[in-house]
Amino acid sequence: MAGTVTSAGAAGASTGEARYRRIYVWQRPIRLFHWVNALAITALFSTGLYIASPVLTSTGEPYDNFVMGRVRQIHFVAAFVFAIAFMWRIYWFWFGNTYARSGFPYVWRLAWWKDLFRQAFDYLRLDFGHIHLGHNALAGLSYTIFIIALGWAQMFTGFAMYSESNPGGFFDGLVGWVLPLLGGSFRTHMWHHLFAWIFATFAIVHIYIVILDGRQYRNGLISSMIMGRKFVRVDDEDESG
Ligand code: HEM
Ligand code: HEM
Repeated sequence: MAGTVTSAGAAGASTGEARYRRIYVWQRPIRLFHWVNALAITALFSTGLYIASPVLTSTGEPYDNFVMGRVRQIHFVAAFVFAIAFMWRIYWFWFGNTYARSGFPYVWRLAWWKDLFRQAFDYLRLDFGHIHLGHNALAGLSYTIFIIALGWAQMFTGFAMYSESNPGGFFDGLVGWVLPLLGGSFRTHMWHHLFAWIFATFAIVHIYIVILDGRQYRNGLISSMIMGRKFVRVDDEDESG
């Protein structure tokens, strides 16, 4: 689904004109996952902080206000949305286009390690570097650690705490064993809380890097997560692997 676009005065063109291809990279399900995931995590993080430290206490009887109850309710709804979107993304890893699998940490392949270090040095030197239409190795690694691994950790600890309100119920049977494994309910809360801050750190670094990357490569990176298409110069070679 590539089209050719001509851009007058684009950087690096000796004639003052560079020719671009427009390539469909992020399919609709991937984009949908991205924004659902980003919104769910924002809701989970802010409601989670309130659960841990309820700064806004209401006056009057709790049953008239139900603030904490409502905040927990939002946290749980967002948690189910997060979990469903997560499974949906895993499905699209297998059934999506080639970019849906890009950046995956093939740690057993030398080429993946080379791409990882090359990308890190490109960022450090603010170098135009190498073209990736999908995720580069560094991005793929960070999504695997900070969204996939941490996402599982949040779901296991979160649903384990959730199961405490219904002993012997479905979630107790599914993940109730996590509580004794981590040393009890309090410690599970603390792990969940720690992971929440790692998510927040990821989000800040992620937003910084997409802005930097979009500026550096001039490839329409941010709009690509909205409309799906990226720009690449006709003579550039995609190194997504
Ligand atoms: C995805 C599934 C998730 C589930 C099922 C879940 C569930 C829960 C439950 C049951 C609690 C305890 C509520 C209480 O004690 O009243 C909790 C607390 C909390 N959650 Fe989640 N959560 C999930 C994901 C997340 C995510 C992704 C974040 C942050 C990005 C987050 C941040 C927090 C925080 C900060 C707390 C307070 C922990 C404390 O200090 O006690 N949660 N969550
Ligand atoms: C204004 C906010 C945001 C913008 C503009 C943005 C933009 C982007 C862009 C352009 C990509 C593709 C980058 C690449 O090629 O590697 C991406 C990927 C991704 N972003 Fe964001 N992002 C934002 C917020 C977030 C937040 C808050 C999270 C979660 C904490 C998040 C999680 C992800 C994930 C998991 C991917 C990989 C997507 C996939 O392969 O399914 N993003 N984002």
